[in-house]
Amino acid sequence: MSEDPLGPLMAQCRARIETVLDASLPAADTSPERLHAAMRYAVLGSGKRVRPILAYAAARATGVSWERVDAAAAALELIHASSLVHDDLPSLDDDDLRRGRPTCHKAFDEATALLAGDALQTLAFEVLATDPHNPPAARVAMVARLAQAAGAGGMLGGQVLDLASEGRQLDLDALKNLHQHKTGALIRAAVAMAAIAADTPPHGQAADQDPAQAQARAAAMDHYAACIGLAFQVQDDLLDVEGDTAVIGKTSGADAAHHKATYPSLLGVEAAHAAARALVDSALAALRDFGAGADPLRWIADYIIARDR
Ligand code: IPE
Ligand code: IPE
Ligand code: MG
Ligand code: MG
Ligand code: MG
Repeated sequence: MSEDPLGPLMAQCRARIETVLDASLPAADTSPERLHAAMRYAVLGSGKRVRPILAYAAARATGVSWERVDAAAAALELIHASSLVHDDLPSLDDDDLRRGRPTCHKAFDEATALLAGDALQTLAFEVLATDPHNPPAARVAMVARLAQAAGAGGMLGGQVLDLASEGRQLDLDALKNLHQHKTGALIRAAVAMAAIAADTPPHGQAADQDPAQAQARAAAMDHYAACIGLAFQVQDDLLDVEGDTAVIGKTSGADAAHHKATYPSLLGVEAAHAAARALVDSALAALRDFGAGADPLRWIADYIIARDR
């Protein structure tokens, strides 16, 4: 494996997605200004951009240009940002701090935050549907994939399970299912959307692999993504226990305060760390037959459980 340049790669991806997001979001000085300002506040300036970075890394692993996943990367981050705005509302997790700043409903107001979250969702699908760098078949497939991941059968369904679990002790299977939905689904979609770009070449070009090979590659990448998606939420749970508010940019200890079902609350901190490590090992094993092009995916897997924010 080549030397780990994840830091520079992340910086490059973050700069790129910032530009794409900035251009995709409505200008703050156009009407309705307050809604536009809230949308931009929720999306721009910070955030780790893990889902866009994963889409770019998966593109590299499949030989697809970054231009062809820019829209997917932006749409993923827009949906993610909308989920954070709504997640922080008083009727959900009731949090005041997000990404080191007041949450959207604190900086603006509840109604604006609710509508800004909605508008970020519709913008995500507009960005995908109007992407000039992908043929119509790829756009439609990405819209469908993201809608499934974000909707009632994915992230939003997971959020419902999360709220219903407050104050209850779940067994490990139920907790895993909750985390796979609320967080894993979107992370899985990030990798799947890059795979769609790889399987749907621009007009006039032939696919670079035979269908059986492409299917095996997609299955391996999906296993990788499912494992790191779950590991990501286990680490999020751990950071709520072990992290500092000033570093994680959100109020630590909030899960315990809300009696949330989490990996550390169910298994203990040490076993939760071990579970996250085992998931990352399984993710890495799925990439065994991939070449150096998959190194960024490998680095991201390790980063997900090593991160301190
Ligand atoms: C936080 O996501 C919410 C979860 C789904 C765990 P991130 O940890 O990716 O948050 P940002 O985007 O970096 O702020
Ligand atoms: C959030 O899970 C999942 C989504 C936003 C879909 P959390 O509630 O644990 O996320 P944080 O800890 O507030 O970022
Ligand atoms: Mg939540
Ligand atoms: Mg929350
Ligand atoms: Mg959390």
